[in-house]
Amino acid sequence: MTSLSLWQRSFGRSLCAIVILSGTLAFAPSSYWSNHGIVASDHGLAADAGAEILAKGGNAVDATIASVLAAGVVQIAGSGLGGGGFALVDDPSDSQMGPFVLDFRERAPSNAHRNMYVESTVDKASRYGGLAVAIPNEANGLVELHRRKGSLPLKTIAKPAIRLAKSGFRIETHLLHAFGKLGDVQTQNQVARSLWNMDKPTQGTTITHPRLAKTIQAWAKTEGEVFRTGWVAADIVQTVQSEGGILTLEDMASVETKERSLLEGSYRGWKVYTMPPPSSGGLVILQVLKVLEEIDLSTYGQNSSELLHLYAETFQHAFADRANYMGDPDRVEVPIERLLSAERIQDISQSFTPDQTQSRDFYGTPVEIGQDAGTQHIAVVDKDGMSVSLTTTINTEFGSRVVGNRSGVLLNNEMDDFVAEPGKANYYGLIGSEANSVAPKAVPLSSMSPTILVSPDGKERIVIGASGGPLIITSTLQTLINIIDFGLEPSVANSRGRIHHQWVPEKLFIDDEIPSDVRDGLIAKGHQLFPMPLHSSVQVVHCQQSPQDTWDCLGASDPRKGGRPAGF
Ligand code: GLY
Repeated sequence: MTSLSLWQRSFGRSLCAIVILSGTLAFAPSSYWSNHGIVASDHGLAADAGAEILAKGGNAVDATIASVLAAGVVQIAGSGLGGGGFALVDDPSDSQMGPFVLDFRERAPSNAHRNMYVESTVDKASRYGGLAVAIPNEANGLVELHRRKGSLPLKTIAKPAIRLAKSGFRIETHLLHAFGKLGDVQTQNQVARSLWNMDKPTQGTTITHPRLAKTIQAWAKTEGEVFRTGWVAADIVQTVQSEGGILTLEDMASVETKERSLLEGSYRGWKVYTMPPPSSGGLVILQVLKVLEEIDLSTYGQNSSELLHLYAETFQHAFADRANYMGDPDRVEVPIERLLSAERIQDISQSFTPDQTQSRDFYGTPVEIGQDAGTQHIAVVDKDGMSVSLTTTINTEFGSRVVGNRSGVLLNNEMDDFVAEPGKANYYGLIGSEANSVAPKAVPLSSMSPTILVSPDGKERIVIGASGGPLIITSTLQTLINIIDFGLEPSVANSRGRIHHQWVPEKLFIDDEIPSDVRDGLIAKGHQLFPMPLHSSVQVVHCQQSPQDTWDCLGASDPRKGGRPAGF
C-alpha cells in the first residue's frame, strides 16, 4: 500500500502535475496534498469555491455545497439547481451520527404516467423540452445537507458561486466542447441566448449569468423556500408548462429529500459505504467487489487482458441484474439481499470462463450510448476527516435545454433515466424492466455512486465517485481497485486506461491507450472492442490519519474532463 507520508514527501503541499512516461498512461494526472482539507471536482473553479469555504473555517459539508453551487454556474451543462443528486457523508469525529446518505434526486411530476412517452407525438419527448423535466430537487437537498451538518451560514457558502455568476468566468474547453456537441448553430445560439443572452460563445469568452446570481442569492436567503413556494418555483413551472411540460406548483412545493438506508459492504477488510436504490451504482459496486474479493487480483497485473476480461464479465452480470431488478425502492422491492447473497455471488463466479466471453443471444438489440456530460462529482475531506461524496446531475448535457425565463435555472431531463418506452434503451443505451417505468412522483433509476471506504484500522479513507452515466459505476470500481489492490496513488489510479461493459449493448468499450497486446488478448476471448463513447470522470480523495490526528490527504481529479483538486 502506498503510504501517505511518502506522498507528502514526494509532492509537497501544492498542486503538481506528473506526467508518467508509460505506454499505458496517456492522461497526465494531477494531485493536491493537504492536511487542511481538499476538494476534488470536475471543474477547477468549483474546487476553488469549496477550498475558499474551507479556508474560511467551513467544514466538508459547507465546502461541498459551495462547490456544487459553483459547478452549477461554471459547468452549467453538467449540473445545477435545476437537477438533483445524492450525497454520502461520514464524520469520524461524530460518534452519535454514523455515515448517512441523502437522496435529493428529481421525481416524476404528479401528472406523469407510464405511457406518456409512447403516446407523445413530440420527437424525443423524454430528452428535450418541457416533458423531459422531472421535479428539480437539488435546491432542497443542499439545504437538508446543510441543516444536518453545515456550520457556516448559507449566505457565506453561496458567495463564491454568486460571484462567479455575477462577475463572470472564462469559458473553458470542456464547456466549449459541450456547446460544439449541441447540434446546429441555431440550437447552440438558442441555448446560449436563453442562458447568457449571447450567441454561441467562443474560446476566451467571459460568461456572466446575473439572473442565476440572483436566484442563488434568493435560495441562500430563503434557505431554499424560493424553490418550493416562491418566485423561482413559479418561474420554473411557468417556463416548463410553456414548453409543453406537466410540472405543477404542487410538485415544486411537495418534493422531498429522503434519507435512505445506507448500503454497507466490505472489500479486503475495508468498510464500503455507498448509495442504495434509487441508485443502481452502490449495489452494482458491492456485487462486483464481492466477486472480485475472492480473487488475488495482483496476480493478474494491472490492466492485463486477463484482468480486463474478468472486469468485463463481472460487469455484464451486474448490469443484467441492474436492468432486471432495479428501480425506485418506494415503488418496487429491489432484492438487495438476494443480489448480494453468497448464492448469487457464487453463480457469477462459477460462470466465469477465463478465455471466452459468454454468448448473449437473448440480450436484445444493441444500441448506441449517448455522450454524457450532464453529471458532476465532488469529493471532499476536511481537516477533521469529515468526508462528503456527492454526485449531482441534470442528466445529459444541458439537460432538457429549458431555462427558467426569470430565474435562469437550466432544467434537467431526468425523465429519460426511466424506461420511457418499454423494450427501448435510454440515451445511455441502458435497458430496464417495469421496476424502472414512469409513474407519478417516482424516482428514475440512477447510476450515481458516491462511495466512501474506510480501512480496517479506521485510519485511512477513500472518498470517491464519478460522472459519466453508466460509466460512473465501472470507472469508480476500477479506480478504487487500482488504489486498494495495486497500491497506486489516486491521481495515477484514476488516470490509467479503463474499460466499460454494461451487458447491453454487446460491446466492450475501451480507452484508447490500452495497448495493442492487451486489446489482442481481449479480442481472442471473443470481445468486440469499441472506443469509449464518452469520458467518465472520477474524483477521489485518499487520506490517512497521522499520529498527531491530522488527516493527511491526496486529492485527484480525473484528467479526462479537465478537473483539478484544490485545498489550502
Ligand atoms: N443522470 C445520470 C444518472 O443518474 O445516472
